[in-house]
Amino acid sequence: MRAPQPNQYRDSWCGELTPDEVGRQARVAGWVHRRRDHGGLIFIDLRDRSGIVQIVFHPERGAELFALAEQLRPEHVVSVSGELLARSAENVNPEMATGAVELEVSQGESLASSHTPPFAIDDDGPVDETTRLRYRWLDLRRAGMQQTMITRALITQTLRQQLVERDFLEIETPILTKSTPEGARDFLVPSRMNPGDWYALPQSPQLFKQLLMMAGYERYFQIARCFRDEDLRADRQPEFTQLDVEMAFVDEDQVIEVSEAAIAAVFEATDFPIAPTPWPRIGYDEAMLRYGSDRPDLRFGLEIKDVSEQLRGSEFKVFESVLSGGGTVRALNAGAREMSRSELDSLNEVVQVHGAKAVAPIVVGDGGWTGNLAKFFTAEQITAVNQALEASDGDLLCFVADSPSVAPVAIGALRLELGSRFGLIPDDQHSVCWVVDFPMFEADEESGDLTALHHPFTAPEGDLDDPAALRSRAYDLVVDGNELGGGSIRINTPEVQSRVFDAIGLDADEAKERFGFLLEALEYGAPPHGGIAFGLDRIAALVCGRDSIRDVIAFPKTASGADPLTGAPAPADARQLRDLGIKPQTPPAAS
Ligand code: AMO
Repeated sequence: MRAPQPNQYRDSWCGELTPDEVGRQARVAGWVHRRRDHGGLIFIDLRDRSGIVQIVFHPERGAELFALAEQLRPEHVVSVSGELLARSAENVNPEMATGAVELEVSQGESLASSHTPPFAIDDDGPVDETTRLRYRWLDLRRAGMQQTMITRALITQTLRQQLVERDFLEIETPILTKSTPEGARDFLVPSRMNPGDWYALPQSPQLFKQLLMMAGYERYFQIARCFRDEDLRADRQPEFTQLDVEMAFVDEDQVIEVSEAAIAAVFEATDFPIAPTPWPRIGYDEAMLRYGSDRPDLRFGLEIKDVSEQLRGSEFKVFESVLSGGGTVRALNAGAREMSRSELDSLNEVVQVHGAKAVAPIVVGDGGWTGNLAKFFTAEQITAVNQALEASDGDLLCFVADSPSVAPVAIGALRLELGSRFGLIPDDQHSVCWVVDFPMFEADEESGDLTALHHPFTAPEGDLDDPAALRSRAYDLVVDGNELGGGSIRINTPEVQSRVFDAIGLDADEAKERFGFLLEALEYGAPPHGGIAFGLDRIAALVCGRDSIRDVIAFPKTASGADPLTGAPAPADARQLRDLGIKPQTPPAAS
């Protein structure tokens, strides 16, 4: 860190005092990190944002100063000055950046005291998350959280720099706006000045960034806060941050190229080891087939095969009824693994979460199959499947038979579960790929209704008269099985946009009511354009090696959307609700 502006509190950073400066007077300020009373001498590790330095109080420096030291407890705030001394060889602490020096205090002032913290600040050990969030200002003092905040700031700064260097303009878009469809529920804000009307918080700046392209701004970016009222998970928060990018007169390759440059710069700045760009692209169909996911984790094998054709016509009723009903049988070779009956049974639960009924396990032996399922298959079928799965004696083969929408995803989940149970997923190696060539729509299995797989502003590819068969010009960036970002080339004519709205069952009136402004703007010379948005929280969690994005957000919400620190969400007071013309269903708090 740059040397601090000297003032009455400090002229040096704790963490940056070095043996070169021994003999000089230094003034530092910060929090008591640790305190040791060596009967006569009091040692304190003093912490500021830069790090920690040991300060020493001697009784002979005066009773008043020593009394101050005796009162100091963890997290008290002090400013002290004195001479910087070299520690004797046996007292050097190689674990500490400043472990070769200490400050001998000749003057000191207590600036604030502290209650005993509910958890230790000098220890990064696990603490119940609700307690951490309730006392977030203390949690953020801990070294691990401080590191993630610093890394996150470095990520934002790197992205900004990369884009500014490439002539992108940073432009802000509204937070109080109209619904922006990204597939989640909206957070609504009542308008006092327009009783009965509501703003929606943006699920993303999608439509505004497209309007900026139509307005001629060509290259835009924003570190944008987005709001989605959806079920929360480790990688989802109700408000989160995107790096949002849009470019005019481009196709997929240019958006991907800019994205790779920006994200690769982040990985480099944060020492996150990953393959050099360009990153491989894998088609959606191939990803679903081989990995059972549109965000494949490529750090390990256990690839999936479609063995429907090899197994068609067997005596095994379960497979046969699925196949004759238009379903599919997917399989993977788990290798030579010993699994007990109960372990195998527990795999059923993994696929059941995704709607499949069960996993059929078969062990290869003597060139054939062992176990009670083997008798249902012909020797040719067994040989064909063994070949497809490159199976040898002792290998455990896992089969999932179901509809074409259920089986791939279910066995994809099984692949991840087996990968983790067998310890096949390395922590220190990372995989990256683009998933491209998505279907434009997905159909509801019962009603057949279409919904856009990305969003309905994504440019389709194919015959508009056959919407179910359309592909889209979308792309997702996937690292270690996490979707870090996604985007697309957009529709830039009102005709195509109307056809897409039509395909998803949005009639002309409704389309006009919801997105009339976009349809109108498309009538005034909309350039070809496309863009992408990256989940900044997910990128930060990935490079910081954290399982939850809550650990890289300064003030996140719990899984139930609450903030234990401020108590949000909370009842509104009666006067506020009256002003807004809202009648509460439950009695409001007294105002
Ligand atoms: P999408 O909805 O795929 O695309 O979002 C882009 C990226 O944002 C991150 N993300 C989230 N992160 C944390 N919490 C959430 N609830 C959450 N939801 C999404 C993910 C995701 O890849 N407008 C389009 C982008 C575009 O087309 O340019 C969009 O928002 O990392």
